Amino acid sequence: MKIKYQARFLLAILLLSSSAAFAQFNLVPLPQQIVTGEGSFLIKPQTKIFYEKGLKQQAELLVSALSPATGFDFVLLESNTTPVNGIALRIGNSGSSNKESYKLTVSKDLISIVGNHSAGVFYGIQTLVQMLPPEVYHKERQKAVKWEVKASVITDAPLYPWRGMMLDVARYFFSKEYVLRFIDMMAMYKMNTLHFHLTDDSGWRIEIKKYPKLTTVGGFSGVGSDRKGGYYTQEDLKEMVAYGLARNVDIIPELELPAHAQAAIAAYPYLCCTGEQYDVPGQHFISKELLCAGKDSTYEFIEHIIKETVALFPSKYLHIGGDEAVYTRWKACPICQKKKAALGLKTEEQLRLHFNRRVQKIAGKYGKTIVGWDEIIEDGLEDQAVGMIWHDPKKAFTAAKAGHYSVMSLTGYCYFDVAESAIPGEIKAAGWLPPISLEKVYQLNPMLEGMDEKYRPLILGASATLWADQFIHGTILQEIPLINENRSEKYFDYLTFPRMSALAEVLWTPLARQHWQDFENRMRSQYSRYDAAGIGYRMPVPKLIGQEKTAAGFLIKLENLVDGAEIRYTTDGSLPNAYSPVYTKAVEVKELADFYAITVLNRSQFSLPFYFPGKYEQFKKYGELVAEWNPQNVPGKEFGLLEMNGGGKIRGNGTYALHFWYTAGDSRLEIQSITVYKNGLKITEDVHDGFTGTEANNNKYSFKIDNYETGAVFTIKAKVRGDVDESTNGVVMIKKI
Ligand code: ACM
Ligand code: ZN
Repeated sequence: MKIKYQARFLLAILLLSSSAAFAQFNLVPLPQQIVTGEGSFLIKPQTKIFYEKGLKQQAELLVSALSPATGFDFVLLESNTTPVNGIALRIGNSGSSNKESYKLTVSKDLISIVGNHSAGVFYGIQTLVQMLPPEVYHKERQKAVKWEVKASVITDAPLYPWRGMMLDVARYFFSKEYVLRFIDMMAMYKMNTLHFHLTDDSGWRIEIKKYPKLTTVGGFSGVGSDRKGGYYTQEDLKEMVAYGLARNVDIIPELELPAHAQAAIAAYPYLCCTGEQYDVPGQHFISKELLCAGKDSTYEFIEHIIKETVALFPSKYLHIGGDEAVYTRWKACPICQKKKAALGLKTEEQLRLHFNRRVQKIAGKYGKTIVGWDEIIEDGLEDQAVGMIWHDPKKAFTAAKAGHYSVMSLTGYCYFDVAESAIPGEIKAAGWLPPISLEKVYQLNPMLEGMDEKYRPLILGASATLWADQFIHGTILQEIPLINENRSEKYFDYLTFPRMSALAEVLWTPLARQHWQDFENRMRSQYSRYDAAGIGYRMPVPKLIGQEKTAAGFLIKLENLVDGAEIRYTTDGSLPNAYSPVYTKAVEVKELADFYAITVLNRSQFSLPFYFPGKYEQFKKYGELVAEWNPQNVPGKEFGLLEMNGGGKIRGNGTYALHFWYTAGDSRLEIQSITVYKNGLKITEDVHDGFTGTEANNNKYSFKIDNYETGAVFTIKAKVRGDVDESTNGVVMIKKI
């Protein structure tokens, strides 16, 4: 997708000639320009910090970044002249008119950070902290560390103004403390926009004084010991906004309208078409209940919640949701139909446009530009809006032609609630999309292929999503034993890092300086920074860099992607652990399938295994691999269940064929039935006898999906056995027919 500089030869030369600069700093996101000098600045207990009037807050943030780990009690001084000795923060000529730009100059006696604006000064500070040893992120004093910064001049400014993350606190209520920590994590990588998904079917999290039941009722699901939820008071939200502002993170509140609003409807049933009483759902589904588009009371409600919301969030943007409305209720509602007729509208889509236009007018009264999921981008939206492009990239073109802005939240690159890999043992995550690897995120280019250059100013950037519906798909958190302390937070950290670092670079660094290989190299030193900062993350799997055929088998070459870690491996088909042999040079193996390797840090943190996945070329015409069976997951003699995750394979309505193919073992696989589940509920089955061995008969099963929903989890359970014993191996392939 991204047309990056393909001049590999040129890149190789560049990397050679400036490798010293890269190796010394390993900055992420990579700045626009780094020029290295001679010598270095040593931060000492006596180092003074000077700040120009107006930059006291930035100076204090610098002290709070340096003091805990250094243990130094820095002296802060306001001064409008540049000192000769110390660290100086100033507003001035940063080499760019971009308000987030800065120039950082490090010499033997002076570190000077000049920002175009306080935001630029803040980013100069973030870069300075990344130039110090990783121990700087620790909250406790680190002894015997030399706090040295190499002499250099860095001039820097971002590529895009909207460098975002979306946090879904509606499906799962995260504490205020986590939100503040999340802001810190964003700021560390120069991300500047937190899209706060505050309301959904399963929870309303923003206190609205005029409608107290939104939070007292809509903020909680379940009863008794199953009751869960919570909400932020207006004071909490003001605190988050101020915390974000100090760190150049703009918080954009989202009020989901007219769908994804069942929590509000549970609190005030008159808001929906039927007026019926519903509960706040404790499980994930997309509610059919919409806010009624015909009643005046709906618009009075919206007017008021917007009024209270904008009083809390100074952002110029207000996100109004707009996704995934189904019109069953509007079609059956006499009030909606009366409104439609009175306005001369023909379809429910036109009624939705009418609804969005009214909401846009209300937001406009408060000076807010509306943001909405890409469904809101359609002809007839009068005032300029921001389309958050998630499932339909064409909407970015529609938006640009109509003069609207776009922010890319594309499902294939930005949905961080999807796992990074399909390696067995990978964290359970949203399964309706294929995995999104670190490299895939790095391939994102918000200027979509074919987008005319003249529309560049309308492409604001990108925003990754952390949807929390997985938390309410059942027992996911209980099923993650490795992270059972603060597990919801650690789970989100794991999904966020390292991918947010890749997104940060895609949105910050000039395109000509974005090179995957160089990024992967610089990332090696980031993991120890995450560790020191107390951030959870996914440890990279060892990287295969060579595989040669030899007389005895294969020579395998791996690369370790984490500074301070080691690779440990096995050659007998068992999984490695912290005591397996350490990889020091290329390893020769007889069978590729018997080789496994992991990254191990401090004997306590592990990656998932690197392994050679089985090749099933001969079955490709039956579609994609959905499961492998082997003696570990297949019962012998007695029928039992083989469970398969349809995630990423079932991608829409239609008929799917499932084929079972034997590959090895003493037994055939006998199959009695397959049953398909959506979000844990049985939706269809195919019952007939079949088998597969050296011969196969009736080994095809089919099923129809006709209520596909994005985000839904599809599971397939097959009733099977090995007909003699469990010694059977094979693959299940899936194809839409
Ligand atoms: C979305 O994922 N429904 C925007
Ligand atoms: Zn209605």
